[in-house]
Amino acid sequence: MTRKWWQDAVIYQVYLRSFNDSNNDGIGDLQGVIEKLPYIKSLGANTVWISPHYDSPMDDNGYDVRDFFKVSEDYGDLDDFKALLDSAHDQGIKIIIDLVLNHTSDEHPWFEAAKDPAHPKHEKYHDYYIWQPPKDMTDGVQTLPTNWRSWFGGPVWEYNALTHSYYLHIFSKKMPDLNWRNKNMIQDMMAMIQWWIDLGVDGFRVDASNHLEKNWDFPDAYPGYEHFSSLPKHHDYLKLLGEQLFFPNNLMTIGESGGASPKEALQYAGFDSKEFNMLIQFGHCWADIDDANHITPGKWAKGTINVPHIKQSLAHWINVFEDKGQNTLYWHNHDHPRVVSHYGSDTFKTHEISAKMLAYSLYLLPGTPIIYQGEEIGMTNVDYQQLNDFRDVEVYTEYANFIQLGATHEVAMQALRDRARDNARSPMQWDNTLHGGFSEYTPWMATNQNKDFINVRQQENDKNSILNTYRNLIALRKSEDLAFAKTQFYDLDHAQSFHYQSKGKYHTYVVISNFSDQTMVLNDLKITDDYTLYLSNTRAQERNVFKPYEARIYRKKH
Ligand code: GLC
Ligand code: CA
Repeated sequence: MTRKWWQDAVIYQVYLRSFNDSNNDGIGDLQGVIEKLPYIKSLGANTVWISPHYDSPMDDNGYDVRDFFKVSEDYGDLDDFKALLDSAHDQGIKIIIDLVLNHTSDEHPWFEAAKDPAHPKHEKYHDYYIWQPPKDMTDGVQTLPTNWRSWFGGPVWEYNALTHSYYLHIFSKKMPDLNWRNKNMIQDMMAMIQWWIDLGVDGFRVDASNHLEKNWDFPDAYPGYEHFSSLPKHHDYLKLLGEQLFFPNNLMTIGESGGASPKEALQYAGFDSKEFNMLIQFGHCWADIDDANHITPGKWAKGTINVPHIKQSLAHWINVFEDKGQNTLYWHNHDHPRVVSHYGSDTFKTHEISAKMLAYSLYLLPGTPIIYQGEEIGMTNVDYQQLNDFRDVEVYTEYANFIQLGATHEVAMQALRDRARDNARSPMQWDNTLHGGFSEYTPWMATNQNKDFINVRQQENDKNSILNTYRNLIALRKSEDLAFAKTQFYDLDHAQSFHYQSKGKYHTYVVISNFSDQTMVLNDLKITDDYTLYLSNTRAQERNVFKPYEARIYRKKH
C-alpha cells in the first residue's frame, strides 16, 4: 500500500484556550497559535489538532457548539482561522479541527426550536434531539425516563417544561445529544463538514464518535453506558461520513472511541475500512484506579500504577494495527491528568528524569504520535488550593458527588488536583514571567506556579532539557522511520520495567525504562554485546541496576 501523508505525521495537540493569548484578554486564541507555529515546527511536528474553535457559550470549553459556522469571539474570527490555515500551510503544517457530532449547545438554534412548541421551526427541529416522556410509576409518581448516568456525573435527562418531556444529554445538561436517526440532521451535519473541508482544513478529530447511536428502548441500567456507547449502528453513520466526505478528500481523521474490540477497531480504522484513518483509544490511561475507594470513585480514585497494564495495552494496539491500520501513540490529552504527575513524578528531584523516561518509553514505538501541549516540557498537574480555581464543568458536579458520598473538602480537593481534566488545561508555560508568558492579563484559569522553573524558555537553553529530548526523539522517529517500526515487548508482566525492541531503518533499538520510583534490578537485559548505549536520562552506575525512573536506549546497526 502506498503511504498516505497522515501515516508519518507527528501531531501536536493545541488546547486553544490555554495555549497562547495574542491580544492579552487572558484567553488563548487563533493568532496566538499562529505566533507559535515556528515553535511547533521546531519540535518536529507537522500537524496541529486544535480543540473546538466554534462559537460556544463555553460550558465545556467549546465542545458545546452554538454555531458550527462561526469562530468563537474568544478565539478570533473566520479571517483569523483562514490566516491560521494559510500560515500553517506555508510552513508545511497541516491543521485538523475537532468535529463535535454527538451534541450541540442548548443555545444552538436547532435546540432553541426543538424545545419550544411555539417556535415556527419546532416541528422540523424537535426530532433533531432525543426526547422521552417522564416515566409513570405505579404509585402515580413520575420519574426520569431511565436511571442512566452522564459522563460528567448526575442523570442524563433534563426536564423541559415547554414540552413536558426530558431531553437526553450524556455529557453536561447544556449539551443535548443529537438524534442520528434523523436524516435531515445528518444532511445538515454533512453540509457543515463539507464547508470546513472547502475552507481548507486537513482533517478532523471526531469527538465522542462511538456515542452517536443510543438504545431507543431506554431500559434502566446504572450507569448504563452500554446503552449509549459503541452500539453497532453508529458505524453506519461514520461510514457514511467516511465514504462521502473524509476519504474522497484525503483527510486525516481520528475517531475518539474507547473500549473497541480488535475487530471493531479495524472496522473504524483498518486500511480497508472507510470510517477513519486512526483511532484514539484509552486502554493505557487510568492504569491506577483504586476500586476500593467509594468516596471519590471511578477515575477519581488514585491507586498504585499497574505498569503491566500500560504495557499490555500499548502492545495490544500495536499488534491489532500491525500491517492492518495506523496506530496512534499518546500519553494523554486535555481530558486527563498530566502524564508526568500521573505516571511519573512531579517532585523537584525526579521530575525531569521521569518526564524523559516517559518520552523514551513511548516514542520509539510505531504509530502516529499525538503530543499534548506542555507535555514536551513536562508540565505537571495544577497546584490549586481553592475549589473555584477549577474551571471544568465536570469538577463541580463531581465535587458535590464526593461530598455526598462522605468526602471531606480536603479529600475532594485532592481527588480534583490528582485527576481533574483541568490539570491538563492550565495555561502553557512559556517563560517565568507573571503569567508564564501565556498572557499579560490574568488568565481564564490560574497558571501553575511551577512556571518559575518549568517553562519553554528555560528549556530552550538547555540541550539536555525535556524539550530537547522530545526534539531529538521526534527527529529520530523520522530518520529511522519509526512510525513503521517492528516492535517486540519484553517482560510484559514485570511490575517496574518498560522494555522493548524497535527496529528502525538503520538500527535496532532497545529501550529499557524503570517505570517506578523504586530501584529496579533487571538481570535479563535484551541486548547483546554489539549494542551500544545511545541515550540515557541519567548516568548509569551499574548495568543491571536502574535508579528510580532511569531509562536507557541501546542500539546496534542492522
Ligand atoms: C470528548 C472531549 C471532551 C468533551 C466531551 C464532550 O470526550 O475530549 O473534552 O468534554 O467529548 O464533547
Ligand atoms: Ca486572547
